[in-house]
Amino acid sequence: KRPEGAPSPGLAKDVGKVGVVGAGLMAGQIALMFARRLEVPVVMTDLDAERAERGLAYVRSEIDKLASKGRVSKLKAAKLRALVSASADKSVYADCDLVIEAVFEELKVKQAVFAEVESIISPECLLVTNTSGLSITAMGSQLKHPERLVGMHFFNPVAVMPLVEVIATEKTDDETLATAYAVAKKLKKTAVGSADRPAFIVNRLLGRMLAEVTGVVDAGTPIETADVALDELGLPMRPFALLELVGLQVSWHLCQHLNEDLGPRFPASENLRRLAEADFPVFDASAKGRGKLTDEAKAL
Ligand code: 3HC
Repeated sequence: KRPEGAPSPGLAKDVGKVGVVGAGLMAGQIALMFARRLEVPVVMTDLDAERAERGLAYVRSEIDKLASKGRVSKLKAAKLRALVSASADKSVYADCDLVIEAVFEELKVKQAVFAEVESIISPECLLVTNTSGLSITAMGSQLKHPERLVGMHFFNPVAVMPLVEVIATEKTDDETLATAYAVAKKLKKTAVGSADRPAFIVNRLLGRMLAEVTGVVDAGTPIETADVALDELGLPMRPFALLELVGLQVSWHLCQHLNEDLGPRFPASENLRRLAEADFPVFDASAKGRGKLTDEAKAL
């Protein structure tokens, strides 16, 4: 079995252009981080031009925020604007050295994405998944070259959270893995190696905690009591704010995958399902102090 560590850094390949599949929130944050830290062109794609443009507009607004806070100079902001682009045409990946996917968390969707991308990219290009915990081995099972597939799992908000999990499958080759670690270092992230197991390391722990919070609500505790109790424990964020940050639907998917893969100690909470299906905001982060649950959530 492969040890969960980095091979020799000397094996790492240069990365001169990055492709991001998807132009949603996570994809946009990843695109901006790569452009900012690697200083290379980054191109995002999505299903149509409108979504791609929306993703690019989000990245540009984040660049403006960085500049207005003085986190990047005006010159750097202009460079970042020039480095990040978006398209509906995946042929833009033809000259990429690394393509990372951040699309919907469903195995079949990711398999289809990689099959399409593999038919476009060069033989040297790395394929990276930002999956929260799906099997990367299964994701690569239909690839011609599964040895160039590796997981890099970033955390929300990507610009701020220092951690990335680096996941090798049994087939990932040493050049690919060494490149993933070298890239993580350039991104100024702390890379932690994980085997390709359901939910890797962090989402097992976090998923269990968040499932228990909603489970306590399932068992009859008022939602606000559960939220306040964990807040007073000193977590960086109130639990329902974290669920909303991760995305309620993403959280519900994660919870279901954990339940399917690891059994009843990861219960699929009924209240989390209801929250994911509801179309109202659950947490008001702008409220005084550390934010508060919305009235709709309290009435759940
Ligand atoms: N996007 C970009 N930047 C953000 C942000 C966001 N959504 N939220 C906060 N930030 C930035 C702020 O702009 C600020 O930057 P600045 O120093 O340049 O002004 C910095 O983060 C700190 O923010 P604040 O001072 O406003 O607030 P806090 O000190 O409370 O920190 C936090 C915010 C870092 C988000 C903190 O609350 C935290 O660590 N929360 C826990 C987050 C967490 O656990 N994430 C993991 C989720 S699980 C996951 O993503 C895995 C997936 O597979 C599901």
